[in-house]
Amino acid sequence: MDFLKPRYTPMNRRRRIYEGKAKVLYEGPEPGTLIQHFKDDATAFNAKKHEVIDGKGVLNNRISEFLFQHLNDIGVPTHFIRRLNMREQLIREVEIIPLEVVVRNVAAGSLATRLGLEEGTQLPRSIIEFYYKNDALNDPMVSEEHITAFGWATPQEIDDIMALAIRVNDFLSGLFLGVGIRLVDFKIETGRLWEGDMMRIVVADEISPDSCRLWDIKSADKLDKDRFRKDLGGLIEAYTEVAKRLGIMSENEKVQTGGPRLVQ
Ligand SMILES: Nc1ncnc2c1ncn2[C@@H]1O[C@H](COP(=O)(O)OP(=O)(O)OP(=O)(O)O)[C@@H](O)[C@H]1O
Ligand SMILES: [Mg+2]
Repeated sequence: MDFLKPRYTPMNRRRRIYEGKAKVLYEGPEPGTLIQHFKDDATAFNAKKHEVIDGKGVLNNRISEFLFQHLNDIGVPTHFIRRLNMREQLIREVEIIPLEVVVRNVAAGSLATRLGLEEGTQLPRSIIEFYYKNDALNDPMVSEEHITAFGWATPQEIDDIMALAIRVNDFLSGLFLGVGIRLVDFKIETGRLWEGDMMRIVVADEISPDSCRLWDIKSADKLDKDRFRKDLGGLIEAYTEVAKRLGIMSENEKVQTGGPRLVQ
């Protein structure tokens, strides 16, 4: 019977490649593919703060699917193939470039703090920042000089990454504006996808309210992970609102968390 199934289908047959803070990666059905599983864990401040928020993984899986599918459709290359179930999606395995690429349209978070800008100030133009993906070092901000000197990406790759980031920003800004949401900033990860001898840089990981700052245009309410970082509560309601505005969930739908929780 369906409701007796554990929340995480037994996956002992699958090889687990990596378990991160928010997701698990499993070996995919074909070579070069992976299964990306979205957990309910919420972390902030380099995992110093941690909570399990029932239903977050399901919402992020759906929202990320929606955004990646649209990016694929407009010709922005991504790792996304298709969603498999409530918590999982099939993706292409890439060689992750160890950078968090942040695009900012409006001052918030660490930029506001560092430069003494008032949160909500529109920036003169979109700004791209790079952070070195390294939890032990707290993901420090780095420049193109560091990236090329340490060989994390070549100058050509940095150009490709910036072009991708700008295309993602243009697309997402317009999409969210159309549903009454201000795209303040977001983070993407990119990776090298090999196709025979050819390599191209694609958007990987996830794009969701965990990795974006999304403010309601009218009320300036936060509809993203800052609700968790700042203990504002109502995270699931906010993510559900984003999903509803994007037309992913219907007006009266509630997020299905997939049956009883397994006691671990
Ligand atoms: N297409 C892909 N191929 C290979 N690895 C990927 C792909 N997409 C995302 N990843 C990696 O899978 C992991 C996703 O797990 P999660 O987001 O939970 O990690 P994390 O705890 O945030 O740690 P990290 O600092 O590595 O991101 C990340 O390390 C991410 O870089
Ligand atoms: Mg991550």
